[in-house]
Amino acid sequence: MENLTIDGKRLWDSLMEMAQIGATAKGGVCRLALTDLDRDSRNLFARWAEAAGCSVSFDAVGNIFARRPGRNPALPPVMAGSHLDSQPTGGKFDGAYGVLAALEVVRSLNDHGVETEAPVEVVVWTNEEGSRFAPAMIGSGAFAGIFDLEQAHGLTDTDGKSFGAELERIGYKGEGCGGRPVGAYFEAHIEQGPILEAEDKTIGVVTGAQGQRWYEITLTGQEAHAGPTPMNRRRDALVGASVIAKAVSRIGHEFQPDACSTVGMMQVYPNSRNVIPGRVFLTVDLRHPDDEVLAEMDWSLRHTAEAVAKRGKLELKLEQIWQFDATPFDPDCIAAVRAGAERYGHTHRDIVSGAGHDAVYMAGIAPTGMIFVPCEDGISHNEIENATPEDLAAGCEVLLHAVLEKAGGR
Ligand code: GLV
Ligand code: MN
Ligand code: MN
Repeated sequence: MENLTIDGKRLWDSLMEMAQIGATAKGGVCRLALTDLDRDSRNLFARWAEAAGCSVSFDAVGNIFARRPGRNPALPPVMAGSHLDSQPTGGKFDGAYGVLAALEVVRSLNDHGVETEAPVEVVVWTNEEGSRFAPAMIGSGAFAGIFDLEQAHGLTDTDGKSFGAELERIGYKGEGCGGRPVGAYFEAHIEQGPILEAEDKTIGVVTGAQGQRWYEITLTGQEAHAGPTPMNRRRDALVGASVIAKAVSRIGHEFQPDACSTVGMMQVYPNSRNVIPGRVFLTVDLRHPDDEVLAEMDWSLRHTAEAVAKRGKLELKLEQIWQFDATPFDPDCIAAVRAGAERYGHTHRDIVSGAGHDAVYMAGIAPTGMIFVPCEDGISHNEIENATPEDLAAGCEVLLHAVLEKAGGR
């Protein structure tokens, strides 16, 4: 049978139109979860999905499902999607690509008059980034039973606003969450790293995701005057936090080739230039594809933080607020992605995801696979994030193939 086509220009135009919501001066997107801009992007998606003949619903954490019926309504749906929220310095493609590629699959099935056996659902997961509300992947995690509704709704941002109240405010708080079978889940995404581009491969056949641990650390010393306080009498929380930040970087370097370690956030109190900082809040993100190595990195972090606190006469509060183990994807879904790349004549290689994705939680409840396409210089979580229309179209073709494999209907 001939290969079904997708409309790469329509996909690109949709990405560019979506990117206008929250567009930044540097060409990126700032669309934090559950803000007015997030609502606007949801509304645009829902409008497009309805125009494509889908019935649109949302659940108790605001995940949106756009359903295209199949021949057999008793079959569990094949889902494809990603997220529309972004980092503060986000790009146009992180998340939006997976959502709009899935929408393009539905639009293409319509164009070709293809009826699938199983229903197909395009899904928009809430708060994937974990930037405004930590941790990440809350919507898919709630759907998969990792977080309960109370937990999700109770999360607060740095202004103390709650997830539940903000969800209600933007009009996306529905009823129920998860607890229904999913035939398969596929997520297309830019790689967010340099491998595909460096090796001149169009498709990353994602075999799984590395494990992650997130920590929150508060160091408490004592505010004091920057002039009269002798150096040996200080309990400077920022000095301690800086040593920890340096150690976190060292831990990442120590466990090469695969470890990653980041301090991405620091809040200094009272943040005044002539007051010795009495309190610092910082976050740590540790990642490794091998759970045993990740456990060693964890030990190293704790050990260092305790030593730093003791030396600086600081009080230490260290809490691991989130973790997931390295997650392999489903062999059949991986094979379907690889077969899609072959079928459409795209170069490919197997790859492990360095980023967390909603697919990680979906892998716990449904056969799951992911498709990566290259991004320029491997840069993401940056306003200059970029990808080519050709590569994005190629990933969408592979997604179409994978969805058809699982939903049936060739
Ligand atoms: C998600 O964007 C992550 O931090 O991996
Ligand atoms: Mn993403
Ligand atoms: Mn992201």
